[in-house]
Amino acid sequence: MAKTLADLRSQRWFGDPGLRAFGHRSRTFQMGYGRDDFMGKPVVAIINTWSDINPCHAHFKQRVEEVKRGVWQAGGFPIELPAMSLSEPYVKPTTMLYRNLLALEVEELLRSHPVDGAVLMGGCDKTTPALLMGATSMNLPAIFMPAGPMLRGNWRGKVLGSGSDTWVYWAEKRAGNLSEEAWTEIEEGIARSAGHCMTMGTASTMTSVAEAMGFCLSGAASIPAADSNHARMATATGRRIVEMIWEDLKPTDILTPRAIDNGIIVDMALSGSTNAIIHLVAIAGRTGLRLPLERFDEISRSTPVLANLRPAGKYLMEDFYYAGGLPALLSRLAAKLNLDCITVSGRTLGERIEGALVHDADVIRPLDNPLKAVGGTAILRGNLAPDGAVIKPSAAEPHLHRHTGRAVVFKNYKDLAARIDDPGLEIDETCVIVLQSAGPLGGPGMPEWGQLPIPQKILKKGVRDMVRISDARMSGTSYGACVLHVSPESFRGGPLALVHDGDMIALDVDKRRLDLLVPDDELERRRAAWSPPVPRYQRGYGALFADHVTSADKGCDFDFLHAGQPTPDPDIY
Ligand code: FES
Repeated sequence: MAKTLADLRSQRWFGDPGLRAFGHRSRTFQMGYGRDDFMGKPVVAIINTWSDINPCHAHFKQRVEEVKRGVWQAGGFPIELPAMSLSEPYVKPTTMLYRNLLALEVEELLRSHPVDGAVLMGGCDKTTPALLMGATSMNLPAIFMPAGPMLRGNWRGKVLGSGSDTWVYWAEKRAGNLSEEAWTEIEEGIARSAGHCMTMGTASTMTSVAEAMGFCLSGAASIPAADSNHARMATATGRRIVEMIWEDLKPTDILTPRAIDNGIIVDMALSGSTNAIIHLVAIAGRTGLRLPLERFDEISRSTPVLANLRPAGKYLMEDFYYAGGLPALLSRLAAKLNLDCITVSGRTLGERIEGALVHDADVIRPLDNPLKAVGGTAILRGNLAPDGAVIKPSAAEPHLHRHTGRAVVFKNYKDLAARIDDPGLEIDETCVIVLQSAGPLGGPGMPEWGQLPIPQKILKKGVRDMVRISDARMSGTSYGACVLHVSPESFRGGPLALVHDGDMIALDVDKRRLDLLVPDDELERRRAAWSPPVPRYQRGYGALFADHVTSADKGCDFDFLHAGQPTPDPDIY
C-alpha cells in the first residue's frame, strides 16, 4: 500500500508540532541543512561499509555521494550511516566471526535512527549477507548497492584472478617452479583497482545471488567498480529507494521462498562459492524460513553450470560483464527461474531481464553447451557428517569424486602448519587430510582454512589435488576435493573429533556419502573418552558468539536473531 507523508516513520522524529521534534529539527539545522532539505521528505539511510582498510570498498567514499545524488533527485533526504567494514584480507581471526555483528549493527542502526528506508552498500564477502540479514530483520524498504568486481589482474601478459591464482602460483612456488622476483611481480599485479574479488568467489556469488533474489537493480552486481556505469548505477539506486519508500516495498515482500530458490539456481549456474549455502540459510532464517541443505542439492542436480568463470572455469567478472552480465545469465536460465518474483524495481524478475542478450557464448554458455552438466555444489551425509557437509565437485579433480583413503589427522590449524611439510610425515596422494577444530566454535568463527595445503613432497611429484576434510569453510576462489562445513563440528564433539590417524574414510560424491570406516562400538569408545575443549573466549563479543552461534547447517546465525516476535520501535521523547 502506498504511503503518505503522515505514514513515514521519520515523521515521529521530525513532524511532531510539540517539543519532542524541536530538538531533532534544530540539530538538523545545526548540520547546515535548510528546512526544504528534509521537512516532508522520506529519510534514506545509506549504510556505508567503507573504511580506510577495505580495498574492496575503496571507492565507496565517492559512490556514497553518487547514491546521495540520486536520493536528492527523487526528493529524499539522505543520511550516511557508517557500519563495520569487514575487510576480508585484514580482519582476524576471520570476518565470519563478525558477520552477525554487522547484521546486528545494521538492524539497530536502522531501528534507532529516523529512517524510512535504506541503501545497503557492500560487496566484500560477509558484507552482503550481513547487510541483507540486518535489513530483512528490520524490514524497512531496502535496496542493495553492490561494490562491483575489481579489474582483471595482470602479470607478464597473463590474466590473474583474485585468490584462485594466488593458490595456483603459491603451489608452484612451494614446488620450486617460481622465482622470488616473479612472485613479487604477481603480488603487485593481482589487485589493480577498487572493487571486490573478480573471480566467482564469495563476493561475486553473493552480490549475484542478491540481484537474482531481487535486492538490486538489474545488472548492478556485474558492473566493474572502476566503470563509470557503476557510478550511474549508484545514482539510480539512490533514486529508486525513495520510490520504494512511498510504495512501501519491503525485504519480506521480495525475499519469498521462490525468490530464495532463484538465488540458489543462480548460485549453482555460476558454480558459486560454498559459503553462499551458509549465508542463504541465515538470510532465509531471518524471514522465518528453515532452508534445508538438501534444497541446494536438489537444485544443484537440475541446474547446469553456465558461467565459465574461475575457479571452476576460465574467465573473470570483467569478461562476464562484457558478455552481458547477470541479466544475460538469467535470460539463459529463464525456464528454470521463478520469473514472477517481485524485485526492488517494483517489477518482476521476468520483466527485468526482458531483452537481455549474451554477447559471448563462451563466457555465458547456452543450456545445450554448459561448462558442467549439473550445478556446482553437493551435500554429503554419512556417519562422519550426520548433519551434513559440502563439496564443490566442479572445482575438484574428477578421479577424487569417489575415493577411499587413510586419514592423516591434524588437531588444529597450528598442528597442520607445523607438520604438513615435514618430510617425515607418513602421507601420500591417496591419503585423506583431516583438520579438526576449524568450525564455528573451534576456529573460532569457521575460518576459510578448508583448502588444506597439499604437502610439499607431494606437490613436487606434480600432484595438485587430494581429498581434504574439515569443519572449516573455504574461500570461494579456492578449488580442490575439499569437504567442508562438516556438521556437527569437531569442537562440539561431532564425529570429526573422533577420527584417528590411519582410519579409512570413504567419499562418494555421486552417492552423496561421507563415511568413517570404523566400527560403531569403537566410535562409542572414542566418544566416551572425548572431553570438550576449553572455550576459546571467556568474555566479550567472542563469548557472546560462542553462546549463541548456530551450526553451519543452520547458517551460523545467532539463535536470538532468527525471525520471531517483532522488536518494538523505540519510543520518541
Ligand atoms: Fe574483499 Fe575478496 S577480499 S571480496
